Amino acid sequence: MYDFRITAADKATLYRDLVSAAEGLTAGEPDAIANMANVAALIWETLPDLNWAGFYRNVDGELVLGPFQGRPACIHIPFGQGVCGAAAESLRVQRVEDVNAFPGHIACDSASASELVVPIVRAGKLIAVLDLDSPMPGRFTEEDEAGCVALCGLLAKLL
Ligand code: SME
Repeated sequence: MYDFRITAADKATLYRDLVSAAEGLTAGEPDAIANMANVAALIWETLPDLNWAGFYRNVDGELVLGPFQGRPACIHIPFGQGVCGAAAESLRVQRVEDVNAFPGHIACDSASASELVVPIVRAGKLIAVLDLDSPMPGRFTEEDEAGCVALCGLLAKLL
């Protein structure tokens, strides 16, 4: 049984503990899907105020739905479309305070109000994106971005 119940007083500590738990969960496991599945579940259990947490994988230049927690989501996202596609095309983090103000945002769940998408890149090549959605506008701060970038740095070596 895995029991990584993380409680922390501040976000920096929360993300440090999250990355360390992700390291423990994935240690010695070469299967990328298994690692994405467990990390999506870990994020879901650890970070408050999310309505979706998971991965889209780069499959031959298109984003394809990977392991996640939350409501069923759209399966294929072309590079350049929506928040995930913008992250995939630019290889830059997309931190969107109000998804309704983001041109081309793909609404998989109408409850989503803000979104954070972090590209996972190895040797200059996009492997996947981490996508977090929240029903709260402006849910994701610079600290969330920094924490998720650190987590994706670990995942880049594993996926
Ligand atoms: N909102 C995303 C689509 C994926 S779902 O949020 C799970 C986008 O605009 O790319």
